[in-house]
Amino acid sequence: MRDFFEEQLEALRARSLDRHLREICSAQGAEIEIGGRRLVNFSSNNYLGLANDPRLRQAAIAAIGEFGVGGGASRLISGTQSPHLRLERALVKWKGTEAALCFSSGYAAALGTIPALVTKGDVILLDKLCHASLIDGAKLSGAILRVFPHNHLGKLESHLQWSQREHAGKRILIVTESVFSMDGDRAPLRELVELKKRFGALLLLDEAHAVGVIGPNGRGLAAAENLNEDVDVQMGTLSKALGASGGYICGSRDLVEWLINRARSFIYSTAPPPGIVGAALAAVNFLASSEGEERRILLWKRIRLMQQLLPGNEWKKNGDDSRSAIFPWVIGNEQAALDFASALQSEGFLVPAIRYPTVAKGAARLRITVTASHEENQIRSLCEAIRRLDG
Ligand SMILES: Cc1ncc(COP(=O)(O)O)c(C=O)c1O
Repeated sequence: MRDFFEEQLEALRARSLDRHLREICSAQGAEIEIGGRRLVNFSSNNYLGLANDPRLRQAAIAAIGEFGVGGGASRLISGTQSPHLRLERALVKWKGTEAALCFSSGYAAALGTIPALVTKGDVILLDKLCHASLIDGAKLSGAILRVFPHNHLGKLESHLQWSQREHAGKRILIVTESVFSMDGDRAPLRELVELKKRFGALLLLDEAHAVGVIGPNGRGLAAAENLNEDVDVQMGTLSKALGASGGYICGSRDLVEWLINRARSFIYSTAPPPGIVGAALAAVNFLASSEGEERRILLWKRIRLMQQLLPGNEWKKNGDDSRSAIFPWVIGNEQAALDFASALQSEGFLVPAIRYPTVAKGAARLRITVTASHEENQIRSLCEAIRRLDG
C-alpha cells in the first residue's frame, strides 16, 4: 500500500498537481498571517468580511452560552434546538420562499438534496462547470447524467428534447449555479427558467457565490431577476459571504418536508452546532438590514475597482454588474500558475493557484476574489504586481 501512495503522489508531483495545506495563523480578513508574515488575502470567499465580525462572534458565544457546543443528535432525533429553527425562519423571511432547511455544509446540502429529487431512470442535466458537490450529488442519485457545455442554452434544449423523447414520464432536473465558482460568470437564469417551464423540468440553482453579493439585500440571482417563484430549489451556503458555516435549501413547504424525510445527509448526520447556527443567524439578520446592504454596496465598489484595474478587457464586457466578486486570471499550464502564485506571495499577496481537477487540465488559474474588507490601495497594489509579473 505504501508503494501505491508513494507512486501516486510522485505522479501528482510530476504533473504539478500535488496539493498542500498552508497554516493561517490569524483570523480571516483582508490580511492574514502565514509563517510570521502578513499577506493580503485575495483568495477567500469571505466576500462581506463577516467571518470575523464582532456581531457573528458575539452571536456564536451567546448561542454556545445558552445551548452548548455540540448538536447532540441528528435533527430528527433530538438535535433540533431553537437556533436551528430561528435560522430557518430568518432564511425564509430573507429569501422570500415558503420554507428553508439547513444542512451542516453546502456540500452536504447538494449531496442530500439531489438524490432526494431524482433517482434511477430520471435525468439530470448539469452545466459542465458545476461545483464538485453538485456533480457528486448527481452521481449519487443514480439518475442518468448528461452534462451540457457551460451556459449553452442550445445544447441544454437539445438534451431536454432528448430526455422527453427517450425518458418520457421521467423527472428531469436541471442543475446549475448562479455564479460559477472558478470563473465568476453568471448563469442566464431567465432563459433557463423559460426552458425548464417549456419542458416541465425542475431547476436547482446553487447560489453559493451569489448570496450576499447579488440581488436586493444579497438574496441572490433568483431574487435579483425576480424569479424566486420559478426556481424550484434554491441551494446556498452559509460558509462564504455569510461568514459562518453550513448549507441551506430554500423552496416550497412540500420540498422541505420531503427533504426532512429523504435527504440522507440531513437525516443521518448530527445537527449543526448551535454556536455556528447562531453566527449564521446573525449574518442573515445583518444582510437583511440596511447596514448589510451598505456593506454589499461597498463590496460592489471594490469589485468595480478590480474590473477597472485588472489587466485585460474581459472584466469590462457586458456592463458593470454582470459578473461577481470572482476574477479568474487564467494561466493554463499548472507549473506556470504555481510560479505566478508564488511570485505574488513574495510580493505580499495570497492568491493560490487553482488546478485540475478543480478546473480542466491546462486551464490552471489564479482565482482572485475581492471582498468588502479590501482597501482600495490593496486592490491597486495587487493589479500593479500582476501587470508587472505578467509583462
Ligand atoms: C458552487 C459551490 N457550491 C457548494 C459549495 C459547498 O459549500 P460549503 O463550503 O458550505 O460546503 C461550494 C464551496 O465550497 C461552492 O463553491
